[in-house]
Amino acid sequence: MKKKIWLLCAALLAGLAAVWIWIGKGREESGEKEKHAIRLGILLYRGDDTFISNVRQALEEQAKAYEQETGIKVVLNIEDAKENQNTQNSQAERMISLGYDALCVNLVDRSMASVMIDKAMVADVPIVFFNREPVEEDLNLWEKLYYVGVSAKESAVLQGEIVVEAYRKNPLSIDLNGDGKVNYVLLEGETSHQDSLIRTEWSVQTLMDGGVPLEKLTGGIANWERSQASAFMEQWLEEFPGQIELVISNNDDMALGAVDAVQRLQITDPIHIVGIDGTPQGISALERGSLLGTVQCDRTEYAEAIITIAAALALGEEPKEKIGLEDKIYYWVGQKAMFCK
Ligand code: GAL
Repeated sequence: MKKKIWLLCAALLAGLAAVWIWIGKGREESGEKEKHAIRLGILLYRGDDTFISNVRQALEEQAKAYEQETGIKVVLNIEDAKENQNTQNSQAERMISLGYDALCVNLVDRSMASVMIDKAMVADVPIVFFNREPVEEDLNLWEKLYYVGVSAKESAVLQGEIVVEAYRKNPLSIDLNGDGKVNYVLLEGETSHQDSLIRTEWSVQTLMDGGVPLEKLTGGIANWERSQASAFMEQWLEEFPGQIELVISNNDDMALGAVDAVQRLQITDPIHIVGIDGTPQGISALERGSLLGTVQCDRTEYAEAIITIAAALALGEEPKEKIGLEDKIYYWVGQKAMFCK
């Protein structure tokens, strides 16, 4: 009798073990193997870009927050392409060959995404692009490609509204010499970047729609960089003495470059300067009164969106079940206008 009971128990245990193995196998086959750690590769076009280095810091913070919330370890490997697309392609290739679960890519050249996408598709490594938007044709090459960014038009309209509001309150605070037109100079980002063209167009359009009588003195491409913008501004201040009333800049760093030039030349006219990004450096210039305004994008939300989408893809989950997406693959980060008080 005892022997029979033992045999029955052994058979029952063997049965249970078989069912357990079978369930596990089924899960593995359907890609549901439970993961306790994910490896994400972060590829930056230029690590010393102020806005990008702020996003990088926020990504590290959000990866930790995700770990705490889910108990899933997130290993981030961050690489700087130093503005070289070939370098970035090799960095991506290496991460793909090392079996990274997903890549988060800030492309050097937004028209060159297909090389990387081809490699990622073969190895089934999803990509979340951010800040430098690939052309639509490339984003449609595969269903595991996403984009996180800030709407360039929205940034520009908000930037334009800052000036419109100041002008409406007191036209002479912007039209400094009261001649009925606002003489402005324009600092633009890289020509190949989707943000430069759209921001310029919509900022100027918003000012005109808002009734600010504009007159462009000159403009230059300072590639998002403070030092390049500062050199331009110094030259313009000498070329147009006492004439510049407004500086419209595609980002905060270039706006700060203009501030540097004004201070270096000890200009005392209250020239108004507006930026976009809301970097900590931009905000402190705003608090000091050196900038009239900026448009701040929510960096925490930016990084949270990237990590949420990348982690979902890494775990074989559907990103749209974790976060609201537009047209299935786009996430647009919120932003707000900030005024000098
Ligand atoms: C823009 C940002 C710039 C610069 C650039 C890099 O969106 O406003 O400051 O970071 O991206 O791609």
